[in-house]
Amino acid sequence: MSKKLYIKTWGCQMNVYDSKRMADALFPLGYEVSEEPHNADMIILNTCHIREKATDKVFSELGRLKEHKDNKESMILAVAGCVAQAEGDYIFERAPYVDMVFGPQNYHELPEMVAKATGAFGTNRIINTEFPLESKFDFLPEETTQQSASSFLSVQEGCDKFCTYCVVPYTRGSEFSRPVSSVLEEAKRLASLGTKEITLLGQNVNAYHGEAKDSSIWGLGRLIQEVAEIDGIERIRYTTSHPNDMDDELIAAHGNVEKLMPYLHLPVQHGSDKILKSMNRKHTADDYRRVIDKVRNVRPDIALSSDFIVGFPGEKDEDHEAMLQIIRDIGYSQCYSFKYSPRPGTPGANMGGVVAEPIKAARLQEVQELLNKQQIEFNQKFIGKILPVLFDRIGDKRKQLLGRTPYMQSIHIDGNKRLLNQTVDVKIEKAHANSVSGSIVTSETVLTNNNKEERTAA
Ligand code: 5AD
Ligand code: SF4
Repeated sequence: MSKKLYIKTWGCQMNVYDSKRMADALFPLGYEVSEEPHNADMIILNTCHIREKATDKVFSELGRLKEHKDNKESMILAVAGCVAQAEGDYIFERAPYVDMVFGPQNYHELPEMVAKATGAFGTNRIINTEFPLESKFDFLPEETTQQSASSFLSVQEGCDKFCTYCVVPYTRGSEFSRPVSSVLEEAKRLASLGTKEITLLGQNVNAYHGEAKDSSIWGLGRLIQEVAEIDGIERIRYTTSHPNDMDDELIAAHGNVEKLMPYLHLPVQHGSDKILKSMNRKHTADDYRRVIDKVRNVRPDIALSSDFIVGFPGEKDEDHEAMLQIIRDIGYSQCYSFKYSPRPGTPGANMGGVVAEPIKAARLQEVQELLNKQQIEFNQKFIGKILPVLFDRIGDKRKQLLGRTPYMQSIHIDGNKRLLNQTVDVKIEKAHANSVSGSIVTSETVLTNNNKEERTAA
């Protein structure tokens, strides 16, 4: 008999990938994914710890879910992901009705954990947050849950960089790259299940150094070239990268691998060398500018994205100005920006020169205004152009299809559902703050507007 599994996911794409693989691990036990928690046999909260309030959000969600647990004693309530890794036992202290706590490196053991948790006298508590010697990827079953046209594939995990604001090296552990053959086999299976776009994932994905069958070590550029050889894969992306790991082979791939999409999320975090140094980024603002120049040299139309942290300890007006300057210099297509949030256990949390909250808020607003302006200007450049769009989702409104352009812009159009999971030419008609819209190109439009090959400089 099938059992209902509800997974709620917070945070980055790695967590989205992990949630899918948790479902794969539980599928042989009869668990099928449900979209809502009502009457679930197991609920997993896959959590994120990157910024403040994440833990509070998890506990308030647990408070809401308690009633489901009260109504169904046999239900297994689990907390997974980075909050589980960081908080461990404390989760049982604050929410004694939780049955299971496990970290991002332990979910391949879900079948054993479930067996142990469901004892003859109700549920038993399980905690599993050790960093195991084995890799979960060697133990997970093949993908069984439905794949969409656009899928994530985790190739690398963990981080050895220890930026002073970041919890990732503590919650995800040290850097690990999956062997080449394991990645390629998964990519082929995804393609055979209907995936057309693969996003290669890692906390530091361009630090990838996977072992190939002949014992040589491949970087991400080489891996991308090989994924591009797989029939059925039309588009490749990767995220998230560090500027110091943009090696020549990877940069070259942006010029010579057609399936590698013209979009790069390369976080610089700040524009001030003083702040970059105290963030332990190990690069200057000019080092970053040089990397971008090299990438633009091989792919002039590439759309660029970054993360920015405002209000790091010691940030003065002139540092803030340097952040605005690097944004102006680079010209981004879309970005993520955050107020610095001290994370317990990281060096940043003990630094002097804390920036007052109202100053942080004002600086964030200024940064976001500039980024929003750049994003809309970027989108406006495409009005009248034709772009191939992979539609991978149905929108909330009737007959609305959602997808992405090669440049990662979100796009929505009115169109028939049969276009779902297809790549279709779309003429861009309007630019919005966070998306573009347009209409499907018919053969007539192509005859009068044959500008598909034109690349627009970003
Ligand atoms: N405070 C604010 N932002 C943070 N990030 C990581 N740690 C923190 C923190 N302590 C941001 C970085 C990173 C993104 C995923 O989250 O910009 O690139
Ligand atoms: Fe965190 Fe990225 Fe720095 Fe690693 S490189 S510590 S994941 S911000």
